[in-house]
Amino acid sequence: MSECWHILGAGAIGGLCSARLAAAGAEISLICRSESSLQQFAGNALILREQDGSESHWGPPNLRLELPSSTAPIERLLVATKAHQAVPALAAVSQRLTPDSDLLLLVNGMGVAEQIQQRWPGLHLYCGTTTEGAWRPTAGVIQHAGKGTTRIGRWQLGGPAPSWFSHWQNSALQASWEENIEHVLWQKLSINCVINPLSALHDCPNGGLLERPELRRQLPGLCREVERVSQAAGMPTPEEGVLALVESVIRNTARNISSMLQDRRAGQATEIDYINGYFCQQAEQLGIDVPLHRALLAKARSVLQATN
Ligand SMILES: NC(=O)c1ccc[n+]([C@@H]2O[C@H](COP(=O)([O-])OP(=O)(O)OC[C@H]3O[C@@H](n4cnc5c(N)ncnc54)[C@H](OP(=O)(O)O)[C@@H]3O)[C@@H](O)[C@H]2O)c1
Repeated sequence: MSECWHILGAGAIGGLCSARLAAAGAEISLICRSESSLQQFAGNALILREQDGSESHWGPPNLRLELPSSTAPIERLLVATKAHQAVPALAAVSQRLTPDSDLLLLVNGMGVAEQIQQRWPGLHLYCGTTTEGAWRPTAGVIQHAGKGTTRIGRWQLGGPAPSWFSHWQNSALQASWEENIEHVLWQKLSINCVINPLSALHDCPNGGLLERPELRRQLPGLCREVERVSQAAGMPTPEEGVLALVESVIRNTARNISSMLQDRRAGQATEIDYINGYFCQQAEQLGIDVPLHRALLAKARSVLQATN
């Protein structure tokens, strides 16, 4: 088995995974969006800054930068763009995929996997979700912000881990293999679709959702709707109930700025359509009315206007 990974999305998570997998011995080709974004990598190398301030530099032969227009076939691709960027980014390299290519989608929210499967039905599709934290102070430099875990599984088919999963296990990414990745993604979505839009709309860290009475009051109703849709969709619901889980996540991440609020503050498009949009779409397909979530989605769409 080759140890080669192409990584599409040279941002925070794509950069972090590139450096972690390269450190574990994989050969990484990091695909930059354009010539100008590639040129911003000083000395053609990616720099990873750890939380303790130490730095590692990743360049040839372990890590090479390339453009979507390169002609080398892609055997194994990690997609680590924002959710709304994934399909256009993939379209730009799709001529390089082979009938046997494996694709691992590591984006927040849900709905992108379905779009990919519909457009490229032959791909072997895997999905993942990560609680690693990283950001990009400048192009080519990734700041690791928090250690997390990464959960990966075969989209809709389940089954045992492929041999390439050992790259992830041998890395510092603390990866686990999931028999049912849809359940894992749904559980994350059901928490995010409450916390993310409320925190982004009200410009507060997660903890504000329990501290501010007008926000706290909204949690039970939103969580009840999540529970009803989860049950109708055949998704497992937490034993303690969705509200208790959401409240415990809020307490444990009280100082965190949700990704949706980070995007809002940075003037970037949010992933709302793949979090709350997906949730409301599922509810509609299942015939479950979710008026509170519909109102939240409408408000979020009107306020969190896309700028890219
Ligand atoms: N950052 C975190 O701590 C974190 C944690 C957990 C989950 N996530 C999730 O991980 C995903 C990636 O987030 P991120 O923070 O890494 O985002 P990011 O830093 O904005 O990185 C996205 C990258 O995708 C690139 N890209 C966009 N369109 C492209 C195209 N057509 N062709 C090639 N490259 C393209 C962007 O290129 P440019 O540089 O040219 O814009 C950027 O480098 C999101 O779904 C996010 O919610 C992030």
